[in-house]
Amino acid sequence: MVAQCFSESDASAEHTMMHYNPAIADYRAQAPEVQARFERIRQRPVILSVRDLQKCYATDEGTHVVFENVSLDIHRREFITVIGPSGCGKSTFLRIIAGLDDATSGEVLLDGKPVSGPGPDRGMVFQGYTLFPWLTVRRNVMFGLEMAGKGASTAESEAREWLAMVGLEKFENAYPHELSGGMKQRVAIARALAAEPRILIMDEPFGALDAITRCKMQSHLLQIWKKVDVTILFITHDLDEAVYLSDRILVMGTNPGRVVEFIENRVQRPRSVQQILSPEFLAVKHRLDELIHPVIAIGDEEKLPMVKMTAANDEIE
Ligand SMILES: Nc1ncnc2c1ncn2[C@@H]1O[C@H](COP(=O)(O)OP(=O)(O)O)[C@@H](O)[C@H]1O
Ligand SMILES: [Mg+2]
Repeated sequence: MVAQCFSESDASAEHTMMHYNPAIADYRAQAPEVQARFERIRQRPVILSVRDLQKCYATDEGTHVVFENVSLDIHRREFITVIGPSGCGKSTFLRIIAGLDDATSGEVLLDGKPVSGPGPDRGMVFQGYTLFPWLTVRRNVMFGLEMAGKGASTAESEAREWLAMVGLEKFENAYPHELSGGMKQRVAIARALAAEPRILIMDEPFGALDAITRCKMQSHLLQIWKKVDVTILFITHDLDEAVYLSDRILVMGTNPGRVVEFIENRVQRPRSVQQILSPEFLAVKHRLDELIHPVIAIGDEEKLPMVKMTAANDEIE
């Protein structure tokens, strides 16, 4: 089948993006090594279990269901990305897992035990920079360790180790305002990991970074994850980021929020930026695009009024 040309009269829901990409590979087809890797992951213990989770808010118009019927199991050291349109409940979902918010019904089990509040077994990194501006980089990382009851010298040496892990040992005496956005997020990751959480929960942590820094941070995070015994739950709205980082991608839909698909990412590890244009990468990204972007039939796009602001005869298509 070759790419087709559409006229405006062809507009119909059938003419989705699929028709423009007839050669896209099957996003479910896994190479034997990828299949074997998922086999191994499935044999690891379940670290996080979510059972029929629902979150509602009372509003003046009645009950607003943020999301419902969310059930999933995540295995130890999996890297899970969560993607979905704005407002589908991604942050609320992660806040409930973090114990910062309560579910309306259902339950979250961490290592088989119900979650009923925040705890050191879950570390958080948010999009906004959350370092204490009055503390040096080292003291920011030490803070949680001292709060957990470690003595100053233990906290100091452990903080140095975590800063070395994220490549910032030379900046231990700097203050947050002296760091770039990417470096601040590396400190935030070091601070979260220093408490040795079972799960690292990251809510669009690279959302405020420029595209190049973001790419570097993704690669840093994969390197860090490889060295640390931690499971990662990572929210993003960036399709490339979701595919580049994850083992599985939880795709959420909206109105009400729900799980649309939980995709096993067929892209091989170790990951590299060269894979971004590979058929496997594009197949998964294309599937995400289909699920997340509304289907706009050709010719159905909103037409703006024809008000001409140029005098010259210089029409563009
Ligand atoms: N405290 C609250 N009271 C009422 N509605 C809320 C509250 N917090 C979040 N919501 C609603 O829950 C929905 C999901 O929000 P959120 O989890 O932030 O979505 P996402 O992170 O996917 O963009 C939104 O419609 C939001 O308005
Ligand atoms: Mg959010």
